[in-house]
Amino acid sequence: MSKKRVLSGIQPTHDSFHLGNYLGALKQWVHLQSDNDAYYCVVDLHALTVETDPKLLQKRTLLSAAQLIAIGIDPNKSTLFVQSHVPAHNQLAWVFECITGFGEASRMTQFKDKSQKGGAERTNVGLFTYPILQAADILLYQPDFVPVGEDQRQHVELTRDIAERFNKKFGKVFNIPQAQIIKSLAKINDLQDPTAKMSKSAASMAGVIELLDTPEATMKKFKSSVTDDGKEIKFDEKAKPGISNLLTIHSALSGKSIESLESQFSGKGYGEFKTEVAEIVISNLEPITRRTNELMSDKAELIKILEIGAQRANQVASETLKSAYSAIGLI
Ligand code: AMP
Ligand code: TRP
Repeated sequence: MSKKRVLSGIQPTHDSFHLGNYLGALKQWVHLQSDNDAYYCVVDLHALTVETDPKLLQKRTLLSAAQLIAIGIDPNKSTLFVQSHVPAHNQLAWVFECITGFGEASRMTQFKDKSQKGGAERTNVGLFTYPILQAADILLYQPDFVPVGEDQRQHVELTRDIAERFNKKFGKVFNIPQAQIIKSLAKINDLQDPTAKMSKSAASMAGVIELLDTPEATMKKFKSSVTDDGKEIKFDEKAKPGISNLLTIHSALSGKSIESLESQFSGKGYGEFKTEVAEIVISNLEPITRRTNELMSDKAELIKILEIGAQRANQVASETLKSAYSAIGLI
């Protein structure tokens, strides 16, 4: 049986991915590469919708790629590349912009949220066409599945609509992909506000565990994580959101069930439990940080890896682009 193809992307908008990205999405990427033909893309063009210092964007693009390799994306198994290295993404996006309705694009909730927050003057046009570029990212590679978080479901729906519309009008060029909504191994919440999801846009980083945090910083964040009422280590999201979140994190990393952790820690205090969770996290993150630093210390080598990825990606993408251009009448 031939392998299924999967494609996903992540924005290089921060120095470090956080534990929510890792346990919620990126670990799945690693898992998927063994049985599938996987394409993973650092979407630097999408990151331009957020104003960033050019040096910082460069650094973050490399850091993102390095972290993906460090968590286990193997560039020999997966095609790992940077979006701007494959010009077909922009080229196909323009074609799609011309067959997407203004109203249709206006209905994207992520655009509505972000533009409302920023106000009309601070909202750039790129934010509006963002999902159409994303459709090009996806459809160029003819994937069967697009593993993404729930928040991206609507963008993948739009991608399917665009592909179906194109195929119907101009002949079948695109495979219609399916969103594979990642049933997170775990939804990870903020350590300071355990009723809110751990997020890069949190007001304070005190409750956000970054993959590249130092062990000391990680320990400190866990030790000062909010403490629920009572004394027992029990999973109860309503009454004990803080402890439940820590149990989820422990379980996702140690592979132990929540029940077995509850009995292991019965009679023990919050302090001891927090320290053990911190230690498990630190021992999991330590090799990731080390590998990331190694890769960042030889940027030429890292760039070479990404160039090889880009070559493979370009081959597939340019072929799809050629078919699409020809179908729509570009000579
Ligand atoms: P973001 O860059 O914040 O959109 O995150 C990229 C992906 O990571 C999302 O699509 C989610 O699948 C996953 N993710 C982000 N935050 C969390 C979280 N707190 N818990 C679980 N998964 C998350
Ligand atoms: N919009 C996605 C996010 O914010 C990132 C992304 C861009 C993406 N292009 C993609 C995800 C293609 C999957 C496939 O998470």
